[in-house]
Amino acid sequence: MIIDFIADYYKNVEKYPVRSQVEPGYLQKVLPESAPNNPESMETILQDVQQHIVPGITHCGSIAGFLGEMLSSGFNIVGFNWISSPAATELENIVMDWLGQMIKLPKSFLFSGNGGGVIQGTTCEAILCTLTAARDRVLNKIGRENISKLVLLRLSESMSRISADVEAGLIPLFLCATIGTTAITAVDPLKPLCDVAKQFGIWVHVDAAYAGSACIFPEFRHFIDGVEGADSFSLNAHKWFFATLDCCCLWATNPEYLKNKATESKPVVDYKDWQITLSRSFRSLKLWFVIRNYGMENLRHFLRSHVNMARLFERLVSGDKRFEVVFPCHFAVVCFRVSPLPVLMDKLKTKYENCLLSEEEQINEFNRELLESINASGKAYMTNVVLGGIYAIRFATGATLTEERHVVVAWTVVLITIKIKLKIFLSLVL
Ligand SMILES: Cc1ncc(COP(=O)(O)O)c(C=O)c1O
Repeated sequence: MIIDFIADYYKNVEKYPVRSQVEPGYLQKVLPESAPNNPESMETILQDVQQHIVPGITHCGSIAGFLGEMLSSGFNIVGFNWISSPAATELENIVMDWLGQMIKLPKSFLFSGNGGGVIQGTTCEAILCTLTAARDRVLNKIGRENISKLVLLRLSESMSRISADVEAGLIPLFLCATIGTTAITAVDPLKPLCDVAKQFGIWVHVDAAYAGSACIFPEFRHFIDGVEGADSFSLNAHKWFFATLDCCCLWATNPEYLKNKATESKPVVDYKDWQITLSRSFRSLKLWFVIRNYGMENLRHFLRSHVNMARLFERLVSGDKRFEVVFPCHFAVVCFRVSPLPVLMDKLKTKYENCLLSEEEQINEFNRELLESINASGKAYMTNVVLGGIYAIRFATGATLTEERHVVVAWTVVLITIKIKLKIFLSLVL
């Protein structure tokens, strides 16, 4: 019954508003105040899911991963060590090597080299874990009593600042480089960063949460050139690799710092020592399903089609003189806005004359209102970023069901929305 329900959900997904349109507190108004005393039928529960839960969902799912997730929930293993379910540990070892090979991670990150991979819940957990490993690596050398000397680095920190820290007796510990930042998918220059880090013995973690998956194409692999100088690398397979949450893949070149002494001697991995939590689910199943069910060629095809669709949207934006692409589009996210054209700024000055907004704030406010109207349409869902004082609208493609026609619809929604917003400025309408 549930499988039919999910199948119907995906069949009808285009009928729902993309962004949930409910108001805060909507669910409390329709669900009972206390738990039921007696069992309820599956039909009744599913009716409530359809009527009350589905309207409160923003629809951006992908299909393949949940099949593995269903099995994982069905088995309900608690695979903290090898013996608790050998298949869970061993499949994770294998799948992490498969994925590592697919994105051409150096062998030093793989079990088939001297490294290894683990599936964590999220990137934040993975970073906390590697930070702990970096700390232990240094403290093993300098003694735990020196913990207060450790410093973290911001990317903006210059060589001279790092040298000054070292001269002052401090120990630079950890640097996190990002390949595909959350806001605008910017890419840090990995090789030079690793070169500097190496001089000071700094642990480099590469956060490729979103963009790491794109390295399955040869033409995108250059974004992680230099990774051989890093200590750890992570990507979220639940972001742009069709696995369901939670599926953050973390590799380390020297996982001994993720292990404890007891497990070092064993020929098996006890993943409880490679993560913050003790218990863990059978996460590798969903990744295994995704890789097997799509196959490498199809996965490349899907990701490439997302990139192509983003490029199409980028071209549509660039071809309309009222809009501009604000930040470079490296992957499948386009950051754009209505341009601050002099004729529009003149009108906005009048519109916001009592609000004491600078010109920059006026155009930002205009774009913020535009995004709100786009999302209220229920036909498309976009997000926003504010960077360097610029408010931009973010358009992303990345779901398995997205097709070119959806991109065209999304752009049409933008056009209709801007037309309505500009109708008071008739001279600006096409
Ligand atoms: C580059 C990057 N790092 C980290 C994160 C946080 O990921 P998680 O929610 O898995 O902790 C994101 C989320 O969007 C991201 O884009």
